Amino acid sequence: MLNIVVLVSGGGSNLQALIDAQKDGILKSGKIVKVIADREAYAKTRAEENNIPFEQVIRKDYSNKEDFCDELASRIEKENADLIVLAGFLSILTEKFTKKFENKIINVHPSLIPSFCGDGMYGLKVHEAALNKGVKVTGATVHFVNAITDGGAIILQKAVELKNEDTPEMLQKRVMREAEWKILPLACEYFCSGKLEIDGKVVKIKEN
Ligand code: GRF
Repeated sequence: MLNIVVLVSGGGSNLQALIDAQKDGILKSGKIVKVIADREAYAKTRAEENNIPFEQVIRKDYSNKEDFCDELASRIEKENADLIVLAGFLSILTEKFTKKFENKIINVHPSLIPSFCGDGMYGLKVHEAALNKGVKVTGATVHFVNAITDGGAIILQKAVELKNEDTPEMLQKRVMREAEWKILPLACEYFCSGKLEIDGKVVKIKEN
């Protein structure tokens, strides 16, 4: 059983999807051993209600991202983490941090990368951009994290169709429900059960 540390900044619905997947036996090769938030977040309540140890490393208590990331790294190392999941985590990580945990950090992004991603593309902005472009299909991507924002190797993607009446808020909810909450737990299980093969910049999923 691998140790998973989940980093959060907000509502924690992706954290909840991981907790539910653990209960349902979808995520069975890894266990969430700690949730760490970088600010006050409702995700704390979700962790506590499910008896998962919770800590805060408050980003604004640090004058620079280097010191913040060093503290975060030391907390993660204490947990003997095998996998670090960014589940709506908004702080920018340093290159030192991403190198230290190379191929061990995964993120969920609410679009089909390489569309609507990169610096400044988070939250509703992603869905606004998809609506403004008039794409007919968007979705979510789970990918490894490296020093380039949303630039690491893609693990899983799931498409979601747009509707004429969509607002950014409606699209955000549907992408979460139909894509993010499904592929994030699945990607974690694939990682923890050794099904991911990283071949350069490309991830392949081993078949049984
Ligand atoms: C999600 O849309 C996720 O893709 C993005 O931030 C949002 C977090 O939502 N990275 P939650 O905190 O998991 O509810």
